[in-house]
Amino acid sequence: MAPLGCGAPIAGWLARSRGIRVEPEEVVVVAGTAQALTLLHPVLRADGIDAVAVEDPGSLGTRQHLRSGALATPPVPVDDSGVRVDALGATGARAVLLTPAHQFPTGVVTSGERRRELLSWARNGGLILEDDYDAEHRYDRPPVPALRALLADHVCYMGSVSKLLAPALRIGWVIPPSRHRDALIDAKRFTDLGNAVLPQLVLARLMESGDLERHLRLLRGRHRRRRDAMIKAITEHLPGAVVHGAAAGLHLTVTYTPEVPDTELATAALARGVKCQPLSWHRQLPGRPGLVLGYAATPPGAVAEGVALLGDALRELA
Ligand SMILES: Cc1ncc(COP(=O)(O)O)c(C=O)c1O
Repeated sequence: MAPLGCGAPIAGWLARSRGIRVEPEEVVVVAGTAQALTLLHPVLRADGIDAVAVEDPGSLGTRQHLRSGALATPPVPVDDSGVRVDALGATGARAVLLTPAHQFPTGVVTSGERRRELLSWARNGGLILEDDYDAEHRYDRPPVPALRALLADHVCYMGSVSKLLAPALRIGWVIPPSRHRDALIDAKRFTDLGNAVLPQLVLARLMESGDLERHLRLLRGRHRRRRDAMIKAITEHLPGAVVHGAAAGLHLTVTYTPEVPDTELATAALARGVKCQPLSWHRQLPGRPGLVLGYAATPPGAVAEGVALLGDALRELA
């Protein structure tokens, strides 16, 4: 199959923004990271991989995409430096799915020491599936380079426009290690013959003209104001709550006291018109209750109102 419409602009974009240097034909265009994970099922199995370790807490959605292909997903705890590589080794899994630039949902940025440990784990026969889902949204620190930029043969890199432009566009990209490339292209071909080309041409224009970068600069300012409004409202309406992962991304994770189950709190919040995700959805291991609160799509005033309603819900349940 010939490389699809926007391989070259995506390769250019990744070089500029993520330090990844690849040829356009190394970019496999897919319908988002969700599809990438599904396409990887047969590719991983053919490589003798039947388990992909996942971060804990870690995205429920991506774990479900792995599980739908009957891959086991042993959990690996995340601490303040990122995923614990000693615990990863103990799972015996040969592959791991990671969000190293901004861990979902805790927001932890993998430390330099932990990145070195991870790269050493991979060099010893491990495969890292790098989900670079919102690396572009940085407020208080520069982005860390992608792991793929450091270790091409042991990292399968995945990204998409979902957090850059809109998830509804369903455009993403995979840079697999070269030994997996043909099998991945076959999987894409037999799934849908390739992504629609017109949306790819629109994306190519946005990337090549500099409009996408301009758009992101605008968004960073807007998101920072929304994030600041959320942190202020949390201090006011959820006293004692701890905010995690504020330096980047499009959401905050909060852990709170008293220890009301987070599923109950999220249900009570929804009844008041506030949508948020319980942290326990994203856990396989026991841990503190919490909420994942998105702020990207909500203006500051409405963010503050929503957090105030959350505070009411928590007080009532407590
Ligand atoms: C951490 C994480 N990775 C990947 C995805 C899937 O993204 P995509 O829209 O690119 O399929 C999601 C979905 O929201 C997500 O939360």
